[in-house]
Amino acid sequence: MTRAQAEKRIAKLKELIEDYRYRYHVLDESIISDEAADSLKHELSQLEDQYPDLITPDSPTQRVAGRPLPGFTSVPHKQRMLSLNDAFSYDELASWQERIKKILNLNKLEYFVDIKMDGLACALIYEDGQLTQGITRGDGYVGEDVTANVRTIESIPLKLRKTKNQSSLLSGRTEVRGEIVMYKADFLKLNEKRQAQAQAPFANPRNTAAGTIRQLDPQLVAGRKLYFRAYDIIRDNNPQTTNEDVYRVLRELGFLVNPMSKVCNSLDQIYSFAEAWQEKRQTLPFNTDGLVIKINDRRLYQAAGIAGKAPRGAIAYKYAAEEATTKVKDIIVSIGRTGTATPVAVLEPVVIAGSTVQMATLHNENEVRKKDIRIGDTVIVHKAGDIIPEVVEPLVKLRDGNERKFTMPIICPDCKKPLTKYKKEDAAWRCLNNSCPSRIWKQIEHYASKEALDIEGLGEKNVIALLDANLIDDQADVYKLKEVEIAKLDRFAEVSAHKLAAAIQAKKSPELSRFIYGLGIRHIGIQTAIDLAQHFKTIEELSKATVDQLSRVEGIGEVVAESVAEWFSEPRNLKLLAKLKDNDVWPKAARITSGPLNNTKVVVTGSLSGMSREEAAEKIRALGGTFQTSVGNDTDILVVGENVGSSKLKRANEIGVKQINQKQFLELTAK
Ligand code: IVH
Repeated sequence: MTRAQAEKRIAKLKELIEDYRYRYHVLDESIISDEAADSLKHELSQLEDQYPDLITPDSPTQRVAGRPLPGFTSVPHKQRMLSLNDAFSYDELASWQERIKKILNLNKLEYFVDIKMDGLACALIYEDGQLTQGITRGDGYVGEDVTANVRTIESIPLKLRKTKNQSSLLSGRTEVRGEIVMYKADFLKLNEKRQAQAQAPFANPRNTAAGTIRQLDPQLVAGRKLYFRAYDIIRDNNPQTTNEDVYRVLRELGFLVNPMSKVCNSLDQIYSFAEAWQEKRQTLPFNTDGLVIKINDRRLYQAAGIAGKAPRGAIAYKYAAEEATTKVKDIIVSIGRTGTATPVAVLEPVVIAGSTVQMATLHNENEVRKKDIRIGDTVIVHKAGDIIPEVVEPLVKLRDGNERKFTMPIICPDCKKPLTKYKKEDAAWRCLNNSCPSRIWKQIEHYASKEALDIEGLGEKNVIALLDANLIDDQADVYKLKEVEIAKLDRFAEVSAHKLAAAIQAKKSPELSRFIYGLGIRHIGIQTAIDLAQHFKTIEELSKATVDQLSRVEGIGEVVAESVAEWFSEPRNLKLLAKLKDNDVWPKAARITSGPLNNTKVVVTGSLSGMSREEAAEKIRALGGTFQTSVGNDTDILVVGENVGSSKLKRANEIGVKQINQKQFLELTAK
């Protein structure tokens, strides 16, 4: 081949290989196999070996630079690389929106929303269309020159592609900013390989990507798969007017941008996008912990200015973390109001999904054994929505030999009576002592709780104080409490004693369902209590019902039926009812409720703004509906609020349950 022929062939090969790269990384198309592409690269590299003077920096053979570098050079950024402020809720997004509208003196704004990638920011400098430099974020003002390393990343074009209308970008200096990420699958493969070679596994894809880009040996970087996803163009006299336009041009220039990014016209639209992606984000190849929301109009974005390290015109909306790691300080056994002994992990406090978690349930003895959770272990703790935090698994590799196995005690930690295995559920141990102090205070606390009798001021600590002072022994005694007696206790002042006494007296004729729930019968949740109240209408009728009669109530299974019948057969319980009656405490007969939600079963997921879960449940019931706590085949409607956990939505999607948002729910219940 003559030199002239080689020159032509080289140019063609380069073009074809770049086209292959572009289609593969940016358009997600594969026109030829990896093997065929490699073979083209091989031919190119042989020709370049023959005619080294024909090698140009934008040749695909130049992606793997040669020797390791002695160190990195610091490079100042032409324009500071900013960070973003975080918003964790709809309300925080709303106040951000209000703020910028005020600053810009506008009452309507358009937003550009994208997934926030969990990687490291990188600035790529192109001079006359050629990649000349790659710089890390550093402190925002000065970064490190990692050009040799970024050149190995295939999704970064070494040369900008010609665009139809933006040819000016190909002359002079064009800076493209984006995120370098490691894909989850590649991270897992890398760790498997490391483990096979007895090397310590890496912690997560972000740290691994960041560590990789700061390697002095570009060969090593080339061996670890990294991707670049662009999000910004920095240029003097930039012609793009919107961020949407920037993404379009970036694609034309040969960059991969997130295809799901989108323009939103309102906070509600942003929020639906956020909610949709909260679920779907697991399916993305890289990790994300939220969204980036920017004012779409670039001029307005600039005009909003900068506050501290972040632009005012953009914000990161963060999904609440649902998992964290922490240490198990101890494993204790908690006795519930029905006597069930539950092992509970006492944790070093850790913040998950916005609240501090110090305890996590371990469910039962079998679970602790199965998961091999030991005292002293570092564990992963999961907390979803309003569900009690639970220990997912111990990180066995972090053990140092000082961990201790847990053994279930054979006596109740509180009353010291023997614990017994319950007949049907062999995993659960129970304290069968009806006078066990733990059971008693929990029963009284449950009786007074918001969903039951709703006696304000009779929470855990006050119940314990009243019991300790021998002022009460059970729920019925509560009604005999005198204000002066309460006021004598350390925990109370005159006003709080008066309030509590008044709150107690105000709750002497509760709704039947609340009363049934408040009795704390095993397996009776709020909805079952409502079903029972609706069916039997009075407590007298309920107390006489046989297992058979109970089983025929819709929604009541055999276990529940037996539990109810058993409760009303125990002399101790009948005595409590008689004592309550003596104290003038008796539930009202149930009303028949009916309304637009008759025969409709509704589940609420996430939080509703301006309405507690209990209020939403009450509303549903007041209109004749059934409030369910989980999605099942019989669920009719799922109300989707804010900060939604994944399980209910996933289940609803699987079985095709109708979903409505808070606005639609309010419309429905306003009828
Ligand atoms: S736009 C002011 N879009 O998040 C910077 N940034 O916390 C706004 N990031 O340093 C840049 N995904 O590295 C933008 N789709 C995305 C992003 C994104 C991840 C990073 C970026 C920035 C950090 C700010």
